[in-house]
Amino acid sequence: MQNRTRIEDLKNRIGETVTLAGWVDVRRDHGQLIFFDLRDGSGKVQLVVGPGPVHETADKLRPEWVIEVIGQIKKRPEKMVNSEIANGDLEVEVGEIKILNQAETPPFDLQTDGRELAEEIRLEYRYLDLRRPRLQQNLHFRHRLVKFIRDYLSERGFIEVETPILSQTTPEGARDYLVPSRLQPGQFYALPQSPQQYKQLLMVAGVEKYFQIARCFRDEDTRGDRQPEFTQLDLEMAFVEQEEVMILNETLLIALVKELLPGKKILQTPFPRLTYREAMDEYGSDRPDLRPNKNDSQTLAFCWITDFPFFEKTETGAWTFTHNPFSAPKPEFMEQLLKGEKIGEIITSQYDIVLNGSEIGGGSIRNHRPEALRAVFRILGYDAAAIARNFGHLLQALARGAPPHGGIAWGLDRLVSILAGEPNIREVIAFPKTGEGRDLLMGAPAAVTPEQLKELKLKIDSR
Ligand code: AMO
Repeated sequence: MQNRTRIEDLKNRIGETVTLAGWVDVRRDHGQLIFFDLRDGSGKVQLVVGPGPVHETADKLRPEWVIEVIGQIKKRPEKMVNSEIANGDLEVEVGEIKILNQAETPPFDLQTDGRELAEEIRLEYRYLDLRRPRLQQNLHFRHRLVKFIRDYLSERGFIEVETPILSQTTPEGARDYLVPSRLQPGQFYALPQSPQQYKQLLMVAGVEKYFQIARCFRDEDTRGDRQPEFTQLDLEMAFVEQEEVMILNETLLIALVKELLPGKKILQTPFPRLTYREAMDEYGSDRPDLRPNKNDSQTLAFCWITDFPFFEKTETGAWTFTHNPFSAPKPEFMEQLLKGEKIGEIITSQYDIVLNGSEIGGGSIRNHRPEALRAVFRILGYDAAAIARNFGHLLQALARGAPPHGGIAWGLDRLVSILAGEPNIREVIAFPKTGEGRDLLMGAPAAVTPEQLKELKLKIDSR
């Protein structure tokens, strides 16, 4: 729309005539005068319609109708000034109104923060729910945070590389989402639980500093801080030791808070570091909340947790990995790993980053030699054939000149929700899924047609 002024640009332009476009927000009638707020992507402003031809059109307007107006910016009378809100000192005296679209009455009030509503209805009409200033702010904040990360890492020699979504299973401790192949009936892609293997392959490929704002998929039970699909800041570097990865991430987090949330206070820098043992002994948790006052949302208590056991026993008595099968042990445990001795005592190079009691990221130095990775899989109970079948490609890559490397992934949704002061990650995801993993807006998951199943050579066992 040519000549359109965004509402955030109205200040200091008293007397000018402007064209605005947006949604009708609250409306207040005072006899001859109609007052209503107009809302666009940048803010709100009060409009006034006096007696005259426009009054009739204004009278028809209902909340959420989409309109274009031409009007003059005026100073509000002294007693109407509201210094608490943006544009609280001005109003626009409307000369013309054009209705661009009508709107059915919304199924819920858009003037509240939405917390009083059942989540199902909010998610079913998410496009309305997202109109709330709180959620708009969350989207904007998330954008600024991602942009800051992208700029910060780009300036330090990292490049962002996209990796496939249709892929093969990567063990990260959850179930895979599977996608049937039409061209290879009976065969399935797995959606990546993380780009872990691809980023390691990129290290072998000579990309020394990789990152990606990456979508990950895990078929696990959804909770407040878990979604079936979520976003990581995924990062990997060649020729690094644990310390360098930790310092880079710590510096990035501090810079990010300083730039985006200058009002927040980081409790302690450098971030405290606790071993897994210390954290468990002192706090009974491997993601301790170090804030002296847990209600203090302005305080950010980051800490690192290191020196986790590499393996733990499952209920059946088999060994499983505690974090990441691709991690290297700490160097002093390499012999033990290769020999498969005192397995329960092996400490991994894993480091987790915790913020206010929530695990917001984790990473490690990797096994860049194939024999070490093979030893991990042997301990996990894979025989030679299963190792070759599942991880042959990675072992081969490691045998072709893999540099030492390591990295980390942040749970971006978790970080954003804590920084934005939101109680769960659904508030900072545009279109999240419910606890049962449903997308109520799109109606997914859903049945498919018999033709689609036939093409895929799939039969549904409906018993
Ligand atoms: P990990 O599995 O620890 O590591 O994942 C990294 C971070 O991602 C977040 N996270 C989640 N966030 C929302 N919903 C989920 N379902 C979910 N699952 C995990 C957490 C977690 O700390 N490839 C390794 C990283 C590496 O070693 O570089 C990995 O994915 O905040």
